Amino acid sequence: MAAICARGLVVEYRTPTGVLRAVDGVDLAIGRGEVYALLGENGAGKTSTVEVLEGHRRRVAGEVSVLGHDPAVGGAAGRVLRDRIGIVLQSSGVESELRVAEAVSLYGSVYRSPRSVDDVLDLVDLAGSANARIDTLSGGQRRRLDMALGIVGRPEVLFLDEPTTGFDPSARRRAWDLVRTLCSDGTTVLLTTHYLDEAEHLADRIGVMSRGRIVLEGTPDDIRSRGSHGRVVVRLDGPDTHVVVEAVSGLHDGVEVVGSHHVFSSMSIADLVAALVQAAGRHGVTVDDWEISAPSLEDAFIDLISDDHSGSGHG
Ligand SMILES: Nc1ncnc2c1ncn2[C@@H]1O[C@H](COP(=O)(O)OP(=O)(O)O)[C@@H](O)[C@H]1O
Ligand SMILES: [Mg+2]
Repeated sequence: MAAICARGLVVEYRTPTGVLRAVDGVDLAIGRGEVYALLGENGAGKTSTVEVLEGHRRRVAGEVSVLGHDPAVGGAAGRVLRDRIGIVLQSSGVESELRVAEAVSLYGSVYRSPRSVDDVLDLVDLAGSANARIDTLSGGQRRRLDMALGIVGRPEVLFLDEPTTGFDPSARRRAWDLVRTLCSDGTTVLLTTHYLDEAEHLADRIGVMSRGRIVLEGTPDDIRSRGSHGRVVVRLDGPDTHVVVEAVSGLHDGVEVVGSHHVFSSMSIADLVAALVQAAGRHGVTVDDWEISAPSLEDAFIDLISDDHSGSGHG
């Protein structure tokens, strides 16, 4: 059974000008132990989706289950579910007069079998700040405390809403390491992010969200290969250059000659490069000045979002 399931999820907000449909028919099936990233621009509907799964927001339509429970159901069943999930909100409201260890202990006390405060602080690299007041922490330390409060209950499912927004690059790396550590013991993680590299580094699968919908879903490799072309820029030297170019004609979808270089555009760069090297070897052509640029997830993402925005719209 999937750890997290949603079918036809719809979330709406009443606004002064009418009703805003923030989530417009989202389907999700996230397996146990899977790390899934909802990737999208601000306003795409990521937080609204996650809040429903956490049991923090009402849905207008759709079926949802987390560890087999409907998160909208309160009472005893709701408490059973809350004991098994951890939440790191996009912006937390931790009491700032508390000390770090006190806050972790307090949050842990609502769970049936919490991790020890020391273990948690070690995991998030805050052991040295155990006695610091929360209002003296730096932004990055605050966010690691948020993470600590999310994992203190030993959750089976962890929700991380924009876990590294505002981090400097080294703090982001450390946060990624922490997420990976947590995942290695089988925790299911649903994270949201607008950082492409974050999704690429952490997630087993990515759902690209745009205007309330998941417009593409797949592994980072799947998504990168969708619709984006890599480039191979190469200088070929020798009498039979044209023969080499002809030999690879089936492996690219465009070649330009720019000065002394050939610029190939291709969806399958590895195959193209291999064929170029082979053909050059056969025909006594030397190959130098390689420059290979694989399509980044960012390219794929931008293509997708712009396709979606220029399409027939939704609603
Ligand atoms: N409480 C709210 N009231 C009205 N509109 C909201 C509220 N929360 C979010 N929205 C709107 O819903 C849309 C989706 O927001 P959100 O789920 O926060 O997206 P994301 O997390 O991807 O940035 C946005 O247009 C946002 O302005
Ligand atoms: Mg958000």
